[in-house]
Amino acid sequence: MNATHTQIAPSLLSADFAHLKDEINRIEEAGADFLHLDIMDGHFVPNISFGIPVVKAVRRETRLKLDTHLMLANPGDFIKPFKDAGADSLTVHLEVCQDPEKVLGEIRDLGMECGLAVNPGTPIEGLFPHLPHVDLALVMSVEPGFGGQSFKSEVLEKVRALHLQISREGLTVPIQIDGGVTPDNAASCREAGARLLVAGSSVFRAPDAAVAIDILRR
Ligand code: DX5
Ligand code: ZN
Repeated sequence: MNATHTQIAPSLLSADFAHLKDEINRIEEAGADFLHLDIMDGHFVPNISFGIPVVKAVRRETRLKLDTHLMLANPGDFIKPFKDAGADSLTVHLEVCQDPEKVLGEIRDLGMECGLAVNPGTPIEGLFPHLPHVDLALVMSVEPGFGGQSFKSEVLEKVRALHLQISREGLTVPIQIDGGVTPDNAASCREAGARLLVAGSSVFRAPDAAVAIDILRR
């Protein structure tokens, strides 16, 4: 996911689950770069979304890369099952990883890309030692657990600090931002250094998803 330009990953969480196949096709035709899959366990986050059988079904419907965001208390237990379901990348949360390098290494060993995420309240410096071992760094801009929340603009400071650290180290790790991203704040996200924008409601609920994606990307 070494992006030089902005890429948009619509979050399936905001799709109409009764018409998942149509929703996936619609978003693919609208020009999505990836499909973001939010996996929630009711422990790490106070909500449950969908799991492995759904990922498997989504895989059959699209060629888009499945950018899979694991909001799980024990992500290390599910790396192989998500690989088998067809995930292309797995992002795990720093808050639950005793040994991030171990989990990240297992993800890569199975041929997937790996990401490391931090919640709004987690200091960004926690990611720094792991940057050489990740394919993306995810900064949450809402408390994980629900779609449709408002963007926490204070996290832009963390994105800037992370961007600076990545360039200081001569790395090319793309920064992903997730939660409450809309046409109103996308420019600030890009200016702060985010290159992968996750957007649920602002794409799936837009009158025209292609227009929404285009605005987020420019
Ligand atoms: C929150 C999820 C996000 C979220 C994005 O826990 O990780 O991906 O669903 O949806 P919006 O863009 O509606 O905030
Ligand atoms: Zn997400």
